[in-house]
Amino acid sequence: MDDKKILLSEKDMPKKWYNVLPDLPEELPPPINPATGKPVTPEDLLPIFPRGLIEQEMSPERWIEIPDDVLRAYSLWRPTPLVRAKALEEYLGTPARIYYKNESVSPPGSHKPNTAVAQAYYNKVEGVRRLTTETGAGQWGSALSFACNLFDLKCTIYMVRISFEQKPYRKSLMQAWGAEVFPSPTDRTEAGRKIRASDPDSPGSLGIAISEAVEDAATHEDTKYSLGSVLNHVLLHQTVVGLETKEQLALVDEEPDVLIGCVGGGSNFAGFFLPFVPDKLKDGKDIRFVAAEPTSCPTLTKGLYAYDFGDTVGLTPLLKMYTLGHNFVPPKIHAGGLRYHGDAPVLCLLVKKGVVEAVAYRQNAVFEAAVTFARTEGIVPAPETAHAIEAVIDEALKCKETGQERTIVFNFSGHGHFDMSAYDQYFSGKLPDYELPEEEIKRALGELPTVE
Ligand SMILES: Cc1ncc(COP(=O)(O)O)c(C=O)c1O
Repeated sequence: MDDKKILLSEKDMPKKWYNVLPDLPEELPPPINPATGKPVTPEDLLPIFPRGLIEQEMSPERWIEIPDDVLRAYSLWRPTPLVRAKALEEYLGTPARIYYKNESVSPPGSHKPNTAVAQAYYNKVEGVRRLTTETGAGQWGSALSFACNLFDLKCTIYMVRISFEQKPYRKSLMQAWGAEVFPSPTDRTEAGRKIRASDPDSPGSLGIAISEAVEDAATHEDTKYSLGSVLNHVLLHQTVVGLETKEQLALVDEEPDVLIGCVGGGSNFAGFFLPFVPDKLKDGKDIRFVAAEPTSCPTLTKGLYAYDFGDTVGLTPLLKMYTLGHNFVPPKIHAGGLRYHGDAPVLCLLVKKGVVEAVAYRQNAVFEAAVTFARTEGIVPAPETAHAIEAVIDEALKCKETGQERTIVFNFSGHGHFDMSAYDQYFSGKLPDYELPEEEIKRALGELPTVE
């Protein structure tokens, strides 16, 4: 029998994270301090991040040691399995070989704790007592609550109101690990009060919740802010995913032809494919990297590559990224974790340079793919992850047409056990499809900040 699961032992877990910055095709445009118009300095970031993470954010080192305490935390669920999706292949009748890296086996159910435990660790060693953050789908909030509990830190979560209402059990999960959770926009912050004054029924967005969490951290001495995606240090921590995948593929003598992931802010996909970037750019290997996003929030496929704020209110540095505009509030799709106006600058640069391709899918097609996966491979995917699955199915069907035996590998970023109300809407035919009108994109992009 062929191996279904490709497993690594704990001792084979990567001991270093991979930093892609020295291997990018050109230098990453720096984050800009909106007050000075100059590149951000480490001191600018100290009110909200610990020094250890700021150093990683700007580090030129290719390899960064993973601290023992973080490795110990990882060993609760890592290394994660790489799995051959044989039943899906047979169902599709494709000659392609499909593998998925199963990040849903972590206690909170996604890839997010790979960075959450690292961030909690670096804050803890610098004497921070409390972390604040935003959460969309609730996966990141669960992960940070889990990590804060491991490292004995308090945790305050601003949860996008629409997700707070759609996913009450995610909130309970965060509370089980000891976090306090508020539906954002709240009345607790200046940023939240401002939004509520202009839109009392605001469904919230990741951009708004980030503004609230940053403000909370910046106005409290013992508190720092933690971001679950987008920034370089987050992508860095997620590279354990791609590094393990590389080792696992080597164990079965496979070379990937296509690597696929879903993109909200870019962390799971980047952590998965970045370790393969030198194979493509330096060694000339013919690997495609494909990013899947929703048509309702088409950042990479329809956004502008420009400097923009990471949040809605304009508290964060300006990042050079594909953006739909920081004032853009995406439609209330169920893949809450993909409702973000921007994306990781590292990923955006690679899209701009043509190293990464991007595709966008509608909600119903995505849920159809999710159900196909559940009925073949058994695991019910998170709606975010299902975007990657839809892209995988597309690629596998192309292989069927052309008869090509390609190796398709994707990142299974999380399970959908807390997303059953979304599945319920899908099964009862009530899930709307959104395609963002061009005028709306133009309007949101008209409000971008200017950078000299
Ligand atoms: C399961 C899952 N996958 C993907 C994402 C998207 O985030 P990122 O693009 O940073 O991986 C999220 C975000 O909440 C998520 O919960």
